[in-house]
Amino acid sequence: MIFDIKMIQGVYEALPDKINRITQVLKRPLTLTEKILYTHLSKDEELKDYKRGEDYVNFAPDRVAMQDATAQMALLQLMNSGRKRVAVPSTVHCDHLIQAYKSAKEDLNTAEITNKEVYDFLTEVSNKFGIGFWKPGAGIIHQVVLENYAFPGGMMIGTDSHTPNAGGLGMIAIGVGGADAVDVMAGMPWELKMPRIIGVKLTGKLSGWASAKDVILKLAGILTVKGGTNAIIEYFGEGVHSLSATGKATICNMGAEVGATTSIFPYDEKSAEYLIATDRKEVADAIKAVRQYLQADTEVELSPEKYYDRVIEINLSELEPYINGPFTPDAANPISEFAKVSAEKGYPQKMEVGLIGSCTNSSYEDMTRAASIVKDAQEKGIKVKAQFIINPGSEQVRYTSERDGILDVFEKAGATIMANACGPCIGQWKRETDNPDRPNSIVTSFNRNFAKRNDGNPNTHAFVASPELVAALTIAGDLSFNPMTDPLLNDKGEKVMLKEPVGAELPNKGFGVDDLGYIEPVADGSHIEVNIAPDSQRLQVLHPFAAWDGKDITALPLLIKAKGKCTTDHISMAGPWLRFRGHLDNISDNMLIGAVNAFNDKTNSVKNPFTGEFEAVPQLAREFKSKGLGSVVVAEENYGEGSSREHAAMEPRFLNVKAIIVKSFARIHETNLKKQGMLALTFINKEDYDKVREDDKISILGLSDFRPGRNLTIELLHSDGEKDTFEVAHTYNHLQIEWFKAGSALNYMKN
Ligand code: F3S
Repeated sequence: MIFDIKMIQGVYEALPDKINRITQVLKRPLTLTEKILYTHLSKDEELKDYKRGEDYVNFAPDRVAMQDATAQMALLQLMNSGRKRVAVPSTVHCDHLIQAYKSAKEDLNTAEITNKEVYDFLTEVSNKFGIGFWKPGAGIIHQVVLENYAFPGGMMIGTDSHTPNAGGLGMIAIGVGGADAVDVMAGMPWELKMPRIIGVKLTGKLSGWASAKDVILKLAGILTVKGGTNAIIEYFGEGVHSLSATGKATICNMGAEVGATTSIFPYDEKSAEYLIATDRKEVADAIKAVRQYLQADTEVELSPEKYYDRVIEINLSELEPYINGPFTPDAANPISEFAKVSAEKGYPQKMEVGLIGSCTNSSYEDMTRAASIVKDAQEKGIKVKAQFIINPGSEQVRYTSERDGILDVFEKAGATIMANACGPCIGQWKRETDNPDRPNSIVTSFNRNFAKRNDGNPNTHAFVASPELVAALTIAGDLSFNPMTDPLLNDKGEKVMLKEPVGAELPNKGFGVDDLGYIEPVADGSHIEVNIAPDSQRLQVLHPFAAWDGKDITALPLLIKAKGKCTTDHISMAGPWLRFRGHLDNISDNMLIGAVNAFNDKTNSVKNPFTGEFEAVPQLAREFKSKGLGSVVVAEENYGEGSSREHAAMEPRFLNVKAIIVKSFARIHETNLKKQGMLALTFINKEDYDKVREDDKISILGLSDFRPGRNLTIELLHSDGEKDTFEVAHTYNHLQIEWFKAGSALNYMKN
């Protein structure tokens, strides 16, 4: 059995007692989000009413999922944790590294050759530590998780932003960085700011061309890309129960586009049907006794304004299809207004490529509804005008769609069926175009449409829509086509209308599959040797960072005084550097190359104190390191905002930076620095930032008495012999100070 039924049954058995206790302590009705979060408090965490949006709380998630790009550094760190096996069920999914180019078979073969050492490494480590391994071609992480692991009332973290997809099946599922995954796999608590809760009430029922995707496309327009920050979106209302489980997953998946921590739906009949169809009747059976705990309390639904931080209502009966974009998923356009908007804004009218798939919209229901449009066009003698690409979300969906003649419909319309992988959704698309400089339009059923996201071309205007609308626009080859009002010309020159989409939520004959692509880890992997070639350019064994030497830090050179915004992208860029995610030395060549030097307003240009010349930041850091010298980074507000990428903390640590002193930190990055054994310090008096000069020697005093709440002292020795001294604050607790002393959280855990 792929999923851990005993663990899930254990969660349900404990549920009634836990929820009764929570209700007694909180003394009010509970939202579904609260029920799941509070039943997953870490065992040392006090049960009390935490302040939403303010308090940091430790949780104990049930599962971890990792995709192949982010799993590399997570597993390299896990190897240093001293553990023999993961503490909670965990899986690795090979979906990001497959490039879509010719066809599923050819592209998969190419990926297996070019990524062989990465796949071999992930296979071996998974086997050693008891992690389930999903081979390249098995499917996209979130679709595979939904089909096999997501369970109502559960909590998981995943090293990918669209982990919230599992919320469609009632699970709190949150996207995190690799270091967080390591914590949970190593049995440590996982910290999250208690989120605010946005209640979205769904009324009515979808009909015609409207689909589940349109709910979130409309909501993206209401909330914008930032409206869900530090919030969980909880859906409720009678409209919820008309949506399929996979439709709900689509909505939760794209909650990431409004910045939400995650999104969640209550358990209902559709969830039960999906669990049974995906071979998990035991889970549906176990739920029967606890069903009332897997939804918000009735009082919450009756007076939502009292219990949610914000309430939004959407009437599904009035919802029309949306087309969002270009360049941002919150540019929401109802289809009835889109032709006008498109003409006014001058979007390229020719629709060049339609793409269906990705983790967002690649369910059996999505495939059948899109295929119904294509079939209707074929029967009416309408030719497909644009290029058509399909990437199924999992081998189970692909196999079943092939068996049921759905892929055949697409192929007869000239579509290319790509591998069951992310492909064009993450820029892994070798698109062939006659002229990359020509502004052009594509429409996808994916979730993100930032510039260059799909094909790396800044001239591509990418729009997101439902799979059925993508199919219609692909057939028309016209960006402004509205299938609800516009006819198309058939091969006899007649004007014909496309029929409304129809589909099956679940396959009548049940799902089928020959080979899921899953490898179960061995029961005892302790004998397994993990091989990493010493000359590998993509993988490198992580050596534990050195413990603190017990002394104050004295007379360190300044590496860079960064000016303005310094996000994790400025600290550790993505793009071509993704290739080195498993090689700390190689990826460290991107350290802080995007940060602006306050002394010359240039990026990646800092003064070498030995030569007086200006050079790249990583180059200077490497020179300091080779001379046995540490260094210090100084920056301004909200340093490290953006992603939870642990490389942004590991690279400075690797290149011997001892301390980051800033006006303020983004909390997750601050914690990441602490985990890697770095000093994360803040100016008490923000003007002290101005005292730091280019040629300073910086000392950090007071470490022998480093304790919670006690400031440290900075001494700046300027090149003219003058000194400035001031205090800096820190937020280290007792445990985090032990991490610092041990050299990292992992060292501490191992010791
Ligand atoms: Fe990410 Fe892959 Fe989905 S790239 S958005 S997980 S298809």
